[in-house]
Amino acid sequence: MKNFKFQNPTKLIFGRGTIANLATEIPIDKKIMLTFGGGSVRTNGVYDQVIEALKKHHFVEFWGIEPNPKVETLRKAVALGKEHKIDFIVAVGGGSVLDGTKLIASAIPCDDDAWDLVLNPNLLKSAIPFASVMTLPATGSEMNSGAVISNLKTKEKFSFYSHFPQFSILDPETTYSLPVYQIANGIADTFVHVIEQYLTLTNESILMDRWAEGILLTLKEIAPKIEQNHTNYDLMSNYMLSATMALNGFIAMGVSGDWTTHMIGHELTALHGVTHGESLAIVLPGTMQVLREQKKGKILQYGERIWGITEGNDEVRIDKTIAQTETFFRSLGLKTRLHELNIGEETVNEIEKRLKQRGSIFGEKQNVTPNIVRKILENRL
Ligand code: NZQ
Ligand code: ZN
Repeated sequence: MKNFKFQNPTKLIFGRGTIANLATEIPIDKKIMLTFGGGSVRTNGVYDQVIEALKKHHFVEFWGIEPNPKVETLRKAVALGKEHKIDFIVAVGGGSVLDGTKLIASAIPCDDDAWDLVLNPNLLKSAIPFASVMTLPATGSEMNSGAVISNLKTKEKFSFYSHFPQFSILDPETTYSLPVYQIANGIADTFVHVIEQYLTLTNESILMDRWAEGILLTLKEIAPKIEQNHTNYDLMSNYMLSATMALNGFIAMGVSGDWTTHMIGHELTALHGVTHGESLAIVLPGTMQVLREQKKGKILQYGERIWGITEGNDEVRIDKTIAQTETFFRSLGLKTRLHELNIGEETVNEIEKRLKQRGSIFGEKQNVTPNIVRKILENRL
C-alpha cells in the first residue's frame, strides 16, 4: 500500500426531503448566488424546494450553466457575483453546474481571468464557500475538489482543482426526472471512475480492491433494475451513493490511479461534444486492449470477481473481460465505437497532435504516450 493523506471536509446530507436543510446550513447573513443549468430543476420541483428553503435568505440567481460548462458562460456568473458581493454559492443541478460553480467561487475573489485560473493553478488563492444540491449521480463532484471546464473558443477541456463543497444535499427523489440517456451516462461515468482507480496494479491494497469491487458489483446489479424503474427510491439511493463513493477520494487510499480513459474522453468531448459518460464507454475497452499486458493481473481479477470469467487461459479470459465490459456499456444504451458518432481518423490525428504539443503522458506507470493514445483510439474506430 502506498503512503497517502486523506481528508474530505464535505458534509453529506442524504435522503428524502433534505433540500429543506438549506435553511439552516447557510448563515442567514450570507449573500447567496444560486447557480443552475438549463431548467430541469424548474420542472421536477427542485427549484421550488430550494426557493422555499431559502425564503428568509438573500439570494440572486444565475441560470444557463451548460453540460461541459464553458468558461465563456462562467465569466458572466463571476461578474454577477462580484457585482452583488456574493459570499456563498449554492449549485443546483448536475456535475456541470457544480463544476462551473467551483470555478466561479475561485474567480469571484480574484482579479485573474477564470480561464487563467484553469490553466495556472498557482494563481488560485481563496475561494468563497459553496455547496450543492446534486440532481445527477455521476461525477462525484458533490464530494470532491475537482472540476472540468471547457473553452468554447479553443475547443479545450481541462481539469481544475480548487475547494470541496462545504456541504452537498443528495435527495434521490430529485433523480426521478432524469432521462434514460443521462442515467446511462451517469452509471458509465461512475463505473469508469472506479475502474481508473482499480484496474492498475495488483496487490496494492486488499481492502481498496474490495471497496472498488463493491461499487462495481452494485452498479452491475442495479443498472438493469434502474432501466426498468428509475423512480424506485432504494435503487436510486444506491446509485446516488455509488457515484459519490466512486470519486470522493475514499477508494483511492494507498492505490495507483490511471485516468488515461478520462483524459482521452475529455478530448473527444472538447472536439465533438461527446457526452462524458459515453466518451468513457467508447475509450475504456481500447485502454484495456492496448494496455492488456501491463494491466494483466488486475484485468484477470476484475473479470473473475465482477463478471465471473474463470474459463480459458489468461489471454482468452482477458478477451472475454474486455468484451463483457463493452457489452455492459451497450446494455445501458451507450455507443462504444467512434464511427457510431461519425468520428474518424482525422480526430485520432488531432488528439495525438494535441497531446504531443502538451507533452501529455498518462497511466499508472506514466508510460501512456500520445502514440499509445493513438493506438487506443484506433482500436475504437
Ligand atoms: O441543465 P439542466 O437543465 O439542469 O439539465 C441537465 C443537463 O442537460 C440534466 N439533468 C441534471 N439533473 C437532472 C437533469 N435532467 C432531469 N432531471 C434531473 N434530475 O442532465 C444534463 C447533463 O447534466 P451534466 O451536469 O452535464 O451531467 P454530469 O453530472 O454527468 O456532469 C458532466 C460534467 O462533469 C465533468 C464532465 O467532464 C462533464 O463536464 N466531470 C466532473 C468530475 C468532477 N468534478 O470530479 C469528474 C468526472 O469524471 C467528469 O469529468
Ligand atoms: Zn468521469
